[in-house]
Amino acid sequence: MSELAAKLADLRTRFSTDVNAAPDEEALDGVRVAFLGRSGEVTGLRRGIGQLPPGERPGAGKEINDVVEAMEGELAIAQSRIENRVFEADLATQIDITFPAIAPVAGSLHPVRNVIRQAGAYFRRHGFAIVTGPEIEPDYYTFDALNIPSTHPAREGFDSFFITDTLLLRPHTSPMQIRTMQAHKPPVAIVAPGKCYRRDAVDARHLFQFNQIEGLLVAEGIHFGHLKGMLTGLCRELLGPDQRVRFRPSFFPFTEPSAEVDTTCPKCKGHSDACNMCGGSGWIELGGAGMVHPNVLREVGYDPDEVSGWAFGFGVERFALTRFEIDDIRRFIDSDPDFLEQLS
Ligand code: DAH
Repeated sequence: MSELAAKLADLRTRFSTDVNAAPDEEALDGVRVAFLGRSGEVTGLRRGIGQLPPGERPGAGKEINDVVEAMEGELAIAQSRIENRVFEADLATQIDITFPAIAPVAGSLHPVRNVIRQAGAYFRRHGFAIVTGPEIEPDYYTFDALNIPSTHPAREGFDSFFITDTLLLRPHTSPMQIRTMQAHKPPVAIVAPGKCYRRDAVDARHLFQFNQIEGLLVAEGIHFGHLKGMLTGLCRELLGPDQRVRFRPSFFPFTEPSAEVDTTCPKCKGHSDACNMCGGSGWIELGGAGMVHPNVLREVGYDPDEVSGWAFGFGVERFALTRFEIDDIRRFIDSDPDFLEQLS
């Protein structure tokens, strides 16, 4: 080994020992200056090149440069080791590692979706199919086929968001009755959940966009008792085992007889005159129902002398309000996770 090589090897060893021992940036800089600084050891070696025979000089220069490069690499590694140690020390003073971790936020089903799913599951168990249809409907399905001719005053409450003279955002899910019966011979048993739109001013009980769930059963020998049984079962499953239902005479052009359906107020069970849920009446209104009108059956090619059926249409948000004892329907569209995640 040449004299220079021996010196370089010795220098490397001492350099590495010092670099690894340097506790902080200042000490590291001291090592750098001592070896690589302007009057450091390496400079001394470079000066010695001049005394070598001219033939050996380029080789010696390269040998020194290679070692310097390696030393600079070592310095850089040591530098980042020291910086990291400082960073970790800082972290330890800034972060309380005994503090409870932030739990990841898990999403949950929207309460309205939940009610639709559970009502759907109830009806499916009883042999009903779940169907969905368009939210933009021709007025034929929305009105005419449901025994609401264009001159009928019942249109007034439904006439809402028209897209053309004859197309509108559906104001109820009842068009799905017609679509189902036109596509299938009796017997039919369906529920049709979905969005509806009405020109209602928004308040604690009304939204201009809301969900309904429609039900339809048509077969031989179907009577009002079947309707009452199914709806009582639905209310008991979703609202509690003691729920009862009440039918109040009403009018819908597509049913005869027609009724408004109420269920026992799940909050006071009818035992409080001051209940803020039912206003003290003991009952909560869920929607409309009735026996399918013969004109509707005829319109879809069914024979009212052979088959009969019942239908109902409930507001899903109303159901969810009742179920979760919420006082304002607008909460459902506020998208406040703190509110929504309490309801499942
Ligand atoms: N479609 C009616 C509405 O939105 C509700 C309704 C009443 C649906 C009676 C029915 C029914 O299926 O039989 O006001």
